[in-house]
Amino acid sequence: MAKVTYLQPDGTSRTCVNFEGMTVMHLAVGNLVDGIDALCGGVMQCGTCHCYIAPEWSERVGPPSADEAAMLEALEGVEVRPTSRLSCQIQLSEALDGLVVEVPAEQPGV
Ligand code: FES
Repeated sequence: MAKVTYLQPDGTSRTCVNFEGMTVMHLAVGNLVDGIDALCGGVMQCGTCHCYIAPEWSERVGPPSADEAAMLEALEGVEVRPTSRLSCQIQLSEALDGLVVEVPAEQPGV
């Protein structure tokens, strides 16, 4: 079990608790967290699950894979930061209990 807090651009936040096997994206979508659209359902084709990992969590979450990094580089119309990740590619586990992610103001193409 892991709790994840989603920070919105307006300063509000939601903390959600995952079930086994979920990604940061699945948890957001399942809890109707605004701003994580995940239009491709998690197969790394849309980029609309883009999020920023809180700096203090970045090392523990780890870097994107080469394919994910290429997808992030190709995102248009959004600010991509060193802490950017596709939330569908972050598998939750107890090691990430307390994770904080920032939801971007805009998702690509949405
Ligand atoms: S849900 Fe489409 S890239 Fe993550």
